[in-house]
Amino acid sequence: MPVTLYPSLMGADLLNLEREINTLNPHVTGYHIDIMDNHFVPNIAFGFDTVHAVARITTKQLWIHAMVDNPTSTIDQLQLPANTVYSFHIESNFMKKDIIKKLTGKNWLPSIAIKPKTDVTQLFDLLDASIYQVLVMSVEPGFAGQPFMPDSLAKIDELVAFRAKHKLNFMIGIDGGINAAIIAQVAQHGAQQITAASAIFSNPDRVAALNDLEKGIA
Ligand code: DX5
Ligand code: ZN
Repeated sequence: MPVTLYPSLMGADLLNLEREINTLNPHVTGYHIDIMDNHFVPNIAFGFDTVHAVARITTKQLWIHAMVDNPTSTIDQLQLPANTVYSFHIESNFMKKDIIKKLTGKNWLPSIAIKPKTDVTQLFDLLDASIYQVLVMSVEPGFAGQPFMPDSLAKIDELVAFRAKHKLNFMIGIDGGINAAIIAQVAQHGAQQITAASAIFSNPDRVAALNDLEKGIA
């Protein structure tokens, strides 16, 4: 099963974001962009204007990860191309079916993210053919640079089993603490879309860091 790696721009040198994207562009399928409202998580990241600025300088796929109280209004504020992946959290208190409808109406790809302490069974009612991806968080959302939580591997296993049992096709994504030492294991369990911030941006040679990670999923 092919596995795709998406740099998470949260870890980038933010005052040189354009340079970062120009360096990575020839080597990646797309970018994971965290949006945080300092309420759903205790941090702020990537305002709408910054997301739009990124979309102006790359045609690569964007994967928005909305860590916000109101994932619906965030959708309304973003003008992004078809095939943008949009991850909203199962823990947010909004009507999930409405969010999914809004996303498919824009030709975006609905993804449901789940925090480490949330039971995976909470997703099951929502998983049907309209869901493009489930995003397993392998750290508490809010910050880059945290250690990978190994319990998330069991969550991937449960999702793989549920998907087979119900003959579904959703992708499985993972976010948080991924590095060259863990990536192979995560992929073997069945993660297909993997994002990483620190493992890429803590290396002065971004492309070498990408290559190190890619070795684990080749
Ligand atoms: C964490 C974010 C992640 C973060 C990943 O809340 O959702 O996307 O940028 O950072 P690393 O790869 O450093 O854990
Ligand atoms: Zn993220």
